[in-house]
Amino acid sequence: MTVSSAAGSSKDRVLIFDTTLRDGEQCPGATMTLEEKLEVAELLDTMGVDIIEAGFPIASNGDFEAVSLIAKQVKRATIAGLARAISADIARAGEAVRHAVRPRIHTFVSTSPIHLAHQMRKTEDEVLEIITRTVGQARNLVEDVEWSAMDATRTPIEYLCRCVDAAIKAGATTINLPDTVGYATPDEYRAMFRAVRERVPNADKAIFSAHCHNDLGLAVANSLAALEGGARQIECTLNGIGERAGNAALEEVVMAIKTRGDVLPYETGIETTMLTRASKLASAATSFPVQYNKAIVGRNAFAHESGIHQDGMLKNAQTYEIMTPESVGVSKTNLVMGKHSGRAAFRNKLDELGYKLSDNQFQDAFERFKDLADRKKHVYDEDIEALVDQNIAMAHDRIKLVSLSIVAGTRGPQRATMKLQVDGKVITEEQEGNGPVDATFNAIKALVPHEAVLELYQVHAVTEGTDAQAEVSVRLSADDRSVTSRAADPDTLVASAQAYLGALNKLMSRGARLHAQHAAE
Ligand code: KIV
Ligand code: ZN
Repeated sequence: MTVSSAAGSSKDRVLIFDTTLRDGEQCPGATMTLEEKLEVAELLDTMGVDIIEAGFPIASNGDFEAVSLIAKQVKRATIAGLARAISADIARAGEAVRHAVRPRIHTFVSTSPIHLAHQMRKTEDEVLEIITRTVGQARNLVEDVEWSAMDATRTPIEYLCRCVDAAIKAGATTINLPDTVGYATPDEYRAMFRAVRERVPNADKAIFSAHCHNDLGLAVANSLAALEGGARQIECTLNGIGERAGNAALEEVVMAIKTRGDVLPYETGIETTMLTRASKLASAATSFPVQYNKAIVGRNAFAHESGIHQDGMLKNAQTYEIMTPESVGVSKTNLVMGKHSGRAAFRNKLDELGYKLSDNQFQDAFERFKDLADRKKHVYDEDIEALVDQNIAMAHDRIKLVSLSIVAGTRGPQRATMKLQVDGKVITEEQEGNGPVDATFNAIKALVPHEAVLELYQVHAVTEGTDAQAEVSVRLSADDRSVTSRAADPDTLVASAQAYLGALNKLMSRGARLHAQHAAE
């Protein structure tokens, strides 16, 4: 099956299937709240993503709720819910996507000998029977069914073809052949798609899909090779987040196709000027920083440091740039803001940085910007990004920092006095600690008793100079879940408290058994 291209286009249309909210969220520490997931889904929809995999409905009530809400709210993209090849999973996924304008059930089963022997403990024939039964069940619930052969790249081609044939006969409309363990090379992956499409008699009844993991850093290369093998759907995530080393990065796949149209005769429906904004939103929602040298959306992706490069750039940008920053939503101007900058300048700056805030979000962000500008002479783009990201992340917090004062220095012990607002109620506590950060975290533990374990505490400066904001990342884990949160402030201890509270809020909103009771109760 092929996908229709834009009118008059000679290029083949490639469907972009985003799994940031499912495979992306599956990576340790990348948990998102319901509101954050909805915000990401709405942006993906506006950006032109064809299919949004919104979650794994059987995994938890939170996942089910998120998929149902996204299915109800998103109006253009297809909404997919993931299901194992188990009747209860498929029924739950069907229920979750029921209200979508375009619902899809995505069901998968392992096909490789190693998975069959050790994980499934099933024979090849048993798995074939499971495929027929479960794809058929899904197809009775929705028209649009995707079937995935988990660990396809380590499955003998003969057996893989039998599985694909069974899935298409049972009603699958998309066949996904994932490189689950990130093992394939581009040549192998291309050849696998070609072989399956040539050998399976009814292959033309389905769209073939690539889903690549990045364990060897080949996820994007493999995804593009799959197109040459006949795949017309690519599964990917914002910033490439996902299990282990992650998935193919959406922004890289899309920009490779756009920039190298001369050798990649395909097109996507993505509005590329929204890529930077989408990357930032995903980073803020998951609290996963984007590496500075990340292709397309990294802070240095369009920075030119060496004299030779700068000289070339001044003469003609094409000397060292293969795509313009504007084409991915990065503006060239870097106007420094300060305490005299007003609302209009701030709004303009947010537009340039790729943020679209609601009126309330804008008002909160503007107040925080004014507060920062009073304390810091020059407010740089990075400061504003940190501030807005934090604003988005904190919008629905149950626990809020009201005030913090610290006694620190050589004559310990260090002491923190903290006031928090928890579900609207203000409570205060004073605690000592082995250093001011320890004292701060002890005060939080005394105010909001919980069993979460601190897995990561990291500080770095947002910009240069001694008045730079400190950006703190905190990862907490409880009940096999870990969440990460980031916060920035010119005061490192305030940023530390905000980051810890952000993580605690995320754990609470996931309904994890935190036993977070107010000390005042
Ligand atoms: O990597 C994988 O195989 C998956 C499947 C569930 C599609 O994520
Ligand atoms: Zn995966």
